Amino acid sequence: MARQRWASRTVFLLAAVGSAVGLGNVWRFPYLAGKYGGGAFLIPYLIALIIVGTPMLILEFVVGQKMQQGAIGSFRKLHPYAGGLGIFTMISSLVIVSYYAVVMAWSVIYFLASFGVQWSDNPKNYFNNSVLQISDGVNNLGGINWSILLCLTVVWILIYFCIWQGTKSVGKVVLYSVPLPVVLLGLLLLRAITLPGFLDGWRAYLNPVWSALVDPEVWTSAFSQIFFTLSLGFGVMITYSSYKQEDDDIARDAWSTAIINSAISLFAGFVVFGILGYMASQTDTPLKELAASGPGLAFVVFPEALSLMPLPWLFSILFFVMLLSLGIDSAFSIVEVLNGAILDQHKHLKLSVVSFWVCIAGFIAGIIYTTRAGLYFLDITDHFLTNYNLILAAIFQVILAGWIYGVEPLRRHINQVSDWRVGKWWNISIKYVIPIILTCLLATQLSKDINTPYGGYPVWALGIGWAIVLIPLMLFLLCLLNDWRRNIEV
Ligand code: PHE
Repeated sequence: MARQRWASRTVFLLAAVGSAVGLGNVWRFPYLAGKYGGGAFLIPYLIALIIVGTPMLILEFVVGQKMQQGAIGSFRKLHPYAGGLGIFTMISSLVIVSYYAVVMAWSVIYFLASFGVQWSDNPKNYFNNSVLQISDGVNNLGGINWSILLCLTVVWILIYFCIWQGTKSVGKVVLYSVPLPVVLLGLLLLRAITLPGFLDGWRAYLNPVWSALVDPEVWTSAFSQIFFTLSLGFGVMITYSSYKQEDDDIARDAWSTAIINSAISLFAGFVVFGILGYMASQTDTPLKELAASGPGLAFVVFPEALSLMPLPWLFSILFFVMLLSLGIDSAFSIVEVLNGAILDQHKHLKLSVVSFWVCIAGFIAGIIYTTRAGLYFLDITDHFLTNYNLILAAIFQVILAGWIYGVEPLRRHINQVSDWRVGKWWNISIKYVIPIILTCLLATQLSKDINTPYGGYPVWALGIGWAIVLIPLMLFLLCLLNDWRRNIEV
């Protein structure tokens, strides 16, 4: 069967941007900027974007496009023993999408509650006790929260119908799901700048605190944010670019994706801080405190800000539709990694059937986060996945491509097909800069986690986190050994 293709280059670009632009842009980026030095945070962020993020994106694009295979197949073409890296990537993808979909399920609940602005009395209480019905600790599972499970089912049905025909259905969906949240953000921005206090919010967002630049944590956060926001390390960009023609442009698409993604993050920052500025002026809460509220930003602080506005229901609906449309194309891009890899290996299977079973697997893997201790598990999984799996996968990829396969043939391929040339600096970035920076990130995180166990969770719960890192890692090593042994026997 012929390989699936994108309908056009614009469709590919929209799909790549759709994957990159997600919850990470709207709450993670503004929250990091607020926490780590305001305008000064933009310096490490932009440096990370240019010297690490975009080169890595170019690498994922060229690998997928040149090899014309998803994660497992592409890695195997880089080196016959490297298929196991694809397994590592696939398991990580399954785990990330399983909880990303749960966050979307919360958004569905909030969308429904928007019609009556049900949280307005006490947003924090509403999130913890009405939506999550959170238990008193990770030790107490507290049974399944059926409303979240129901909304999760809805989310997975939506995801399924976005991807069931592969590039064909994804191509149609992204025409709407990528511009829609940007338009909605624009409307929210218009609302923000007509409210008192928005300028104070912008000041808190952009005012540079230069002393932040000497704090290593600011730098490590900027680098890991760039990886997360560009959907790197999970095989998404490899899979997506494998559906392009072998001689399509690479460099320009990569730069465009990276620039559009960061532009949307910056833009989202204005919206978020504008509205927080208004909230600070209405409630006398310091802005810093509001911005640094982490995951609570989208589901506690922001809903509260929305409820203070005139026509609160309208802007709440806009906000949660924005969040859902923002999240869905990131979520299904991860599912595509699994679909792509499975179909490469088993060409006789039917796309819609594979998609169905992958969605079922993602749904089942997410059930744990719908229990009353779900938030704790989500927090642990997210911590380990983004700090270890993502970074490890990226390190393995650059070693495989940069040192084992060789960067120069890849760079030559890019320059043969691209309008924009990629200079020798790219080789240096892939071979030295990225692995060194990522190893430093990994080492810093590891020493932090060993010294102070993350989030004060009990040992068994953190054990699950470590298992999420170590099980795929062990499978990778086993596959490697197996391939090697088979090769010797032949
Ligand atoms: N880039 C997405 C975001 O910013 C998250 C994501 C990570 C999506 C990894 C796919 C793969 O929200």
